[in-house]
Amino acid sequence: MGILTEEMKEAVNTRRLGYVATVCPDGTPNLSPKGTTRVWDDEHLVFADIRSPGTVDNIQRNPAVEINVVDPEAHKGYRFKGTARVLTDGQVFENILSFYQQSGVTHPIRSIVLVKVERAQSLP
Ligand SMILES: Cc1cc2nc3c(=O)[nH]c(=O)nc-3n(C[C@H](O)[C@H](O)[C@H](O)COP(=O)(O)O)c2cc1C
Repeated sequence: MGILTEEMKEAVNTRRLGYVATVCPDGTPNLSPKGTTRVWDDEHLVFADIRSPGTVDNIQRNPAVEINVVDPEAHKGYRFKGTARVLTDGQVFENILSFYQQSGVTHPIRSIVLVKVERAQSLP
């Protein structure tokens, strides 16, 4: 079994909106929403870079990320800490791209960000 529980997977794939924090070159945080946040497998989350130049630049310098997925009405959520990779070609990139295209994402996708989750916690 991977680090992502069934409850976590369901929450991410239902809510579909992750708040993605990265680290800027000057050490300050960068936080931006990604409505393409999905579970890729038992240990990876993914989102599509449609227009996320700051997030992508930061990851290329420093792959540390945290993603929060929350349901404010239910007052529930999860935080995921991990290491991100920016994919622009290759088989995994093609597989994820076609997954998004089949799920109805019509915006052009510049790159795919694949996050290996190293810590996953529910928000109390
Ligand atoms: C609700 C919402 C969802 C969004 N989802 C995405 C997304 O999945 N992918 C993306 O590239 N941009 C998405 N955006 C746009 C980026 O968050 C926005 O362009 C932001 O300024 C990018 O900042 P960054 O360059 O620091 O990542 C979304 C914006 C909103 C308001």
